[in-house]
Amino acid sequence: MQYIEYGKNSTKLSTVILGMMRISKMTPSEVEELIETALECGINAFDLADCYGDGLCEEIVGKVLSSSPDLREKIWIQSKCGIRRDDGLKYFDFSREHITGAIDGILMRLKTDHIDSLLLHRPDTLMEPEEINEAIEEAVKAGKIIDFGVSNMNPMMIDLIKRDVKEKVTANQIQLSAAFCPSIDAGLHVNMGTDSGIVRDSSILEYCRLNNIVIQAWSVLQYGFFEGVFIGSDKFPELNKVLNRIASEQGVSPAAVAIAWILRYPSPIQAVIGTTKIHRVKELARAADIRIDRRQWYEIYQAGGKILP
Ligand SMILES: NC(=O)c1ccc[n+]([C@@H]2O[C@H](COP(=O)([O-])OP(=O)(O)OC[C@H]3O[C@@H](n4cnc5c(N)ncnc54)[C@H](OP(=O)(O)O)[C@@H]3O)[C@@H](O)[C@H]2O)c1
Repeated sequence: MQYIEYGKNSTKLSTVILGMMRISKMTPSEVEELIETALECGINAFDLADCYGDGLCEEIVGKVLSSSPDLREKIWIQSKCGIRRDDGLKYFDFSREHITGAIDGILMRLKTDHIDSLLLHRPDTLMEPEEINEAIEEAVKAGKIIDFGVSNMNPMMIDLIKRDVKEKVTANQIQLSAAFCPSIDAGLHVNMGTDSGIVRDSSILEYCRLNNIVIQAWSVLQYGFFEGVFIGSDKFPELNKVLNRIASEQGVSPAAVAIAWILRYPSPIQAVIGTTKIHRVKELARAADIRIDRRQWYEIYQAGGKILP
């Protein structure tokens, strides 16, 4: 495993994070086994959100933590807030009142007194950055959150938040995979813009790098917006051919190579994996043990459907 230094305490965090969006149908003991496996593989960072399973995913992790109290200090927990569903309507809410209530809800479900990182989940176009500052300052002062960050945001949104929020924006979690990388354009500048959730701004990686913001990539094995896994998919014959070849050269799985492709970006970056299977956690953790070279990086990029000018 490889590690980065994260946040105000320079916490040593694994470059592979285990995402827990898909655990709602698992039992607490199955989730505990998944977490223990991750820890054995060197993965010490875990990603949640208050909306995953409508709170159920956090509740399950809370049950695990209360039945195994020693576990809390071994794991770094991140959660996210800002997505609401009221009477069937989905919307985004960065108001002070909502953020403050959401943090308390997260702590209650997780049965913990603090989370290590809180991200604002998807950009609320109606955000008032002063209100975000008040909510975050209060939560940090109370020891409820350690670090603050954002998710699915383009550079201007982050600058707007930075204008008023005193806490550092430590991370930006964005959708990124070898088959879906609108934020990387290798010189064509065709992908500017954002649509309230999918960052297509072709300067976001460099912006994060320049501002020492950790990039966290989500859905690292998916194409489109949750359309499916590209590993082994006949929709991506060229990509699979290249991944399979490099995988056999490196002695890891094709999925691990696809994740190593993300981790190759030369600034602090983490890949959030979403598997619920123990054997896959072990297989994917190996992504951090290999390094693909520049030629392989561009080969995968083009095999994923991108063109170079
Ligand atoms: N910030 C955001 O807006 C945002 C959005 C979405 C997700 N996330 C975070 O990112 C995490 C990962 O997202 P994701 O679950 O979409 O990521 P992913 O790792 O790309 O996809 C995982 C899914 O692919 C399946 N899968 C099928 N074949 C696989 C293989 N060979 N290797 C690995 N998985 C395979 C897994 O099934 P099995 O479980 O059967 O292995 C699982 O259902 C989430 O848990 C969440 O924490 C954040």
